[in-house]
Amino acid sequence: MQFQTIIEPFRIRQVQPVRSTTREEREVALQQAGNNVFLLKAEDVLIDLLTDSGTGAMSNEQWAGMMRSDESYAGADSYYRFESAVKDITGFEYIIPTHQGRAAERILFSAAVNEGDVVPNNTHFDTTRANIEARGANAIDIPNKDASDTQAVVPFKGNMDIDELVSILEQWQDKVPLVMMTITNNSNGGQPVSLDNIRKASEVCKRFNVPFFIDACRFAENAWFIKMREDGYSETETIAIAREIFSLADGATMSAKKDGMANMGGFLALNDAALAEKCRSMLILTEGFPTYGGLAGYDLESIAVGLYEALREDYLAYRVRTVEYVGERLIDAGIPILRPPGGHAIYIDAKAWLSHIPQEQYPGWALANTLYVEGGIRTSEIGSVMFGLQPDGSEILADKELVRLAFPRRVYTQSHIDYVVEVLCYINTIVNDVKGVRITKQPKALRHFTAEFDSIS
Ligand code: F0G
Repeated sequence: MQFQTIIEPFRIRQVQPVRSTTREEREVALQQAGNNVFLLKAEDVLIDLLTDSGTGAMSNEQWAGMMRSDESYAGADSYYRFESAVKDITGFEYIIPTHQGRAAERILFSAAVNEGDVVPNNTHFDTTRANIEARGANAIDIPNKDASDTQAVVPFKGNMDIDELVSILEQWQDKVPLVMMTITNNSNGGQPVSLDNIRKASEVCKRFNVPFFIDACRFAENAWFIKMREDGYSETETIAIAREIFSLADGATMSAKKDGMANMGGFLALNDAALAEKCRSMLILTEGFPTYGGLAGYDLESIAVGLYEALREDYLAYRVRTVEYVGERLIDAGIPILRPPGGHAIYIDAKAWLSHIPQEQYPGWALANTLYVEGGIRTSEIGSVMFGLQPDGSEILADKELVRLAFPRRVYTQSHIDYVVEVLCYINTIVNDVKGVRITKQPKALRHFTAEFDSIS
C-alpha cells in the first residue's frame, strides 16, 4: 500500500519551547518596536517566518560532526571534509569558505567586477545587487516574461529571459564580467529555474566567452523542482540533478544558511585558478585564512553534512509539500498569493488583498504587523518599504506589495502550519479593517530593518 500522507521525515529529540502571548501583549510589543517586526524580541514571536536563512534545525549527524571538529587555524580536518563535500556536489576546483553568502558575493565581485560593468541575473537578491552596485557596476534583472504575472501558473517561473541575455551580451560583451543565475529565484517568489534554461544560459555565456556563475543558496530545492516538473528527470536522483546544474557553470556563490542546513556559513566555488588566487587574497584580508574563511571548524562540519541532507528526497518532498499545502489552503480561502507557491516561502499579494489601502500607506507592512498582532506570526514585507527609498532620498512605489512567509528548515510541524493558515483565514474576515501605516523615522538606506511606523486611523 502506498500511503499518501507526507510526514516530517525526522523525529524530534530536542525541543525549544515557544511562548504564547496575548493579543494585548503583542500590541504593546509591536508598539515598543516602532511597529517594525524586525525590531521585536524573538521571544515575543510565536511562529517566526521572517526568513529561512540560518534558522533551520540541525540533525544529530550535523551535531556529531560539530563535536568532531578540528579548530586548527590552518589545514584543519574540518576544512578538508567541507571541501570534499562541496567538490563532490558542485565539481568545482577551488573551494573558498566564507562566513555567509554575501561575503562570497563581495569577494567575487571585488575580484571580477569593475566600475561601469554590467552583471545580468535572472533576478538579483538584494545583497547581490548591493555588492555589484558597491563596485560602481550595474546589476540588471532579466527574469522571463511570465514572472511579472503573479497569477500565471507555470513550472519554471524563475527562468532567465535568454533573448534578453543575448541582447545584453551583443551590446555590452566587453562590459559583462560574469553572468549570474539565482536558483531558486528568491526575489521572484522562490520560483525554480529549469535545467533547460540553465543549459541555454550556459551556452550563451560560452558563445560570448563570459563566465557563468550560480547563486546556489537553494540549489537542492531547485533540483527537486526539476525532478518533479522537467521532462526526462523524474527518475534522476536529486544529487545527480544538482551535479548537472553545477557542471554547466564556471562557479557558484552559496549561503549555507539555506540549503547547507547550517546556522552560519557559505562559500565561493570556481574553476578559474587566477581568479581563485585573487579571491583568496581578498579572503585573508577580511574573512580569514583560506581553510576557515571566517568560520569555526564546527561550522564547516555542519555544512559538510548539511549539504547532503538538503538533497535527501524524503526531506525535499516534505519541505516543498509544506509550502504547497499552505498555498493551496490560502487559494481555497480566496487569499491572493503569488502563484505557484515557491520552494521556501509563500508570498501574499498584499496589494490585491488589502486593496483598500493605497500603496503609499504600505499595505504589505500593514499586513505583516496584523499577522503579528493577531497571531504572533512574524513575516516580512517585500514591497515599497523595502525597495521604495532611492539613494537620492526620493520615493518610488514598488511593482508588487508582497508579504513573505519564509519557512525555516525542519523547525515547524504540521500543526504549526495549520495554525498559520487559520490565522490568515481569520484575517481574511477582518481584512477591510486593517489600516495603512506611515513612516515616522527612517535611516538613509536599507530602511526596512530599522524604520519606525505609525498606524493611520
Ligand atoms: N542570494 C540569495 C538568493 C539569498 O536569498 C540570500 C539571502 C543571499 C544571496 C545572501 O546570503 O544571507 O548568507 O549573506 N537571503 C536571506 C533571505 C537573507 O531572507 O532571503 P546571506
